[in-house]
Amino acid sequence: MLTSPPRAVPSSPTSSPTFLFSEHATEHYQHAIGQAVERVCQQLSRAPDPCSGTSPAELQSIMAELDLNTPLHDLTAVLDELQCTYLNDAVYFHHPHYMAHLNCPIVYPALVAEVISSAINTSVDTWDQSAGATLIEQALIDWSCEKIGWQPGADGIFTSGGTQSNLMALLLARDHFCETRLDHCVKTQGLPPGFERLRIFASEVSHFSVKKAAALLGLGHDAVMPVACDSAYRMCPQALRQALRDCQQQGLVPMALVATQGTTDFGSFDPLPEIAPICREWGMWLHADAAYGGGLLVSPNYRDRLAAIELADSVSIDFHKSFFQPVSCSAFVLRERQWLKYASYHADYLNPLADAQAGIPNLVDKSLQTTRRFDALKLWLTLRWMGADAIGELFDQAITLTAQAHLWIEQDCEQIELLHKPQLSTLVFRFAPNAELSAQQLDDCNRHIRRSLFDSGRFALAGTQVGGQAFLKFTFLNAHTQLSHVQQAIDAVEQAGEHYLQTLRQPAEACA
Ligand SMILES: Cc1ncc(COP(=O)(O)O)c(C=O)c1O
Repeated sequence: MLTSPPRAVPSSPTSSPTFLFSEHATEHYQHAIGQAVERVCQQLSRAPDPCSGTSPAELQSIMAELDLNTPLHDLTAVLDELQCTYLNDAVYFHHPHYMAHLNCPIVYPALVAEVISSAINTSVDTWDQSAGATLIEQALIDWSCEKIGWQPGADGIFTSGGTQSNLMALLLARDHFCETRLDHCVKTQGLPPGFERLRIFASEVSHFSVKKAAALLGLGHDAVMPVACDSAYRMCPQALRQALRDCQQQGLVPMALVATQGTTDFGSFDPLPEIAPICREWGMWLHADAAYGGGLLVSPNYRDRLAAIELADSVSIDFHKSFFQPVSCSAFVLRERQWLKYASYHADYLNPLADAQAGIPNLVDKSLQTTRRFDALKLWLTLRWMGADAIGELFDQAITLTAQAHLWIEQDCEQIELLHKPQLSTLVFRFAPNAELSAQQLDDCNRHIRRSLFDSGRFALAGTQVGGQAFLKFTFLNAHTQLSHVQQAIDAVEQAGEHYLQTLRQPAEACA
């Protein structure tokens, strides 16, 4: 009997003429994805630094050479081009010298999920576009609510990030306030008369997305009342009481409070056990912005820093910050499912009311977005493969490193001024040499340090401003970053600072 020889898989199949992904394109798909993965692996094994220090002008000149109307038709050529426009100069968050913003290294179970979810291309807006994906997302929402300590009846939705979660919190807070206190439905009628008197309270170091949300909600930045902090950058309850009384005297109306659980710069926690009763007393919605600190929900050692989070009405959690997930992966959760009605709309073609009445779960009913990525799959595979404790341990290691770094700097680095004792995994500090420098020179010096380290590509640090003065910031999220890396970074800071001081001295020396 004649048998046909096994079909040879070409090592480099030419592209399918249509490029459409289907059962006919699996060979092309596997080959192309393999090539892409290969590039990433090569890049990681070669990149000695977290960034290249390239300038916008350098990359813009490469981009200017490209003609988007002339495709390359060949994957290798496409990837070679991408090497120059992106991969060579990208900023690599997995690198132990990346210590800048709240970007985490990611765990590879989540990358497996990215491959699957992008290929299947589920949209989790309705059951008829998602099936099991909807149940997976809902299970993760329920799991997050349980970790917070809420009873059944709590609910939530995955979002694009903390910014959207905070917007959603304040939208629900505004509409709930207007419905229950003013007998006014904002969703159908728009803002009520006197809306300009509504006020939101947040600490003076809360995230700027609170102000952005206030603007988007028609209340404006000025509706956000900054509450003073104590010396550890936590909202001060006495200052809050005073601010509320002042508002009342001016005829303003407190509506909501945002208590940050892990502030962006200082990792500080507004004290919920003291703030929650004040919110209850004043009838204010209490939102906990745990975009950063939310990772402590699975921490084996530091969970107690989220004390009383269950007293919040709603919580933002960014899995793409402290759960080691790729961007985007985030959730907005709340204590009472019914309040999600302020965000809902039933479209006849998509999620008719009849579906909800029949118990069909259409997640779009509770989302600000319509078409929405199945970002929950990343967290799902991570939890099913690694488990929550392993995630919590990664975050704990970063927190422990931060405490060690603080201690070492305090004891050994005379020229470094520390601004706070860390409560999470950031450290705000500055180079403050024993030299006669004006406040402006000190600011310029620290800005120079940050720029020169970034330009060298060797270390990525963040910069911030406190009390109008320039500071540097470490954000640690990488369990591969050791104290020795921090010591090298501080050496580099001191060297760059000394170099700046020399440039200051040179003109004077030249005149002498
Ligand atoms: C405390 C806090 N809230 C909200 C956000 C905004 O989160 P996202 O960047 O995911 O929109 C951040 C970002 O750093 C943050 O630190």
